[in-house]
Amino acid sequence: MIKKRVLNALNSQLNAELYSAYLYLAMEAYFESINLSGFANWMRAQAQEELIHAMKFYDYIVARGERVDLTAIDEPQKEWDSPLAVFEHVYEHEKMVTGLINDLVDISVAESDHATTNFLQWYVAEQVEEEESASGVLQRVKLTADSPGGLFMLDSELGLRVFNPPVKEE
Ligand SMILES: [Fe+2]
Ligand SMILES: [Fe+2]
Repeated sequence: MIKKRVLNALNSQLNAELYSAYLYLAMEAYFESINLSGFANWMRAQAQEELIHAMKFYDYIVARGERVDLTAIDEPQKEWDSPLAVFEHVYEHEKMVTGLINDLVDISVAESDHATTNFLQWYVAEQVEEEESASGVLQRVKLTADSPGGLFMLDSELGLRVFNPPVKEE
């Protein structure tokens, strides 16, 4: 059993993770529309990771004997001015999500839900990686600002990103 306040926060983070997947799929579509298929590939992998994040919340809520509550997912932004604008958005978005995870940890601590506090540590560590990878690509897109050749090289490199589904640990 989970206290109502913690359960509501977990369900709302499940929605936020699905929204993240939706946002990255919108970014993928944008990159496909401007023929940067490597950037699009990076976004597909990013969206697949967000679905994993969402399903971990789903499974945790079920494991604690509670019911998942699926609410409407907001429509994501669909247009950006440039690849740079997209990656500025990605970095801002991931920093915002880090804030949501931190707030969720605060709630679990305030409600003395040690199992949830423990469960959330995976996300605390994951957000360090998420911010690092977003800011890493952002810095590199900035370097290509005056060089279309650089942008195409980066596109080839981002095309190599492969999504690795996690191995289920029991
Ligand atoms: Fe996430
Ligand atoms: Fe993320």
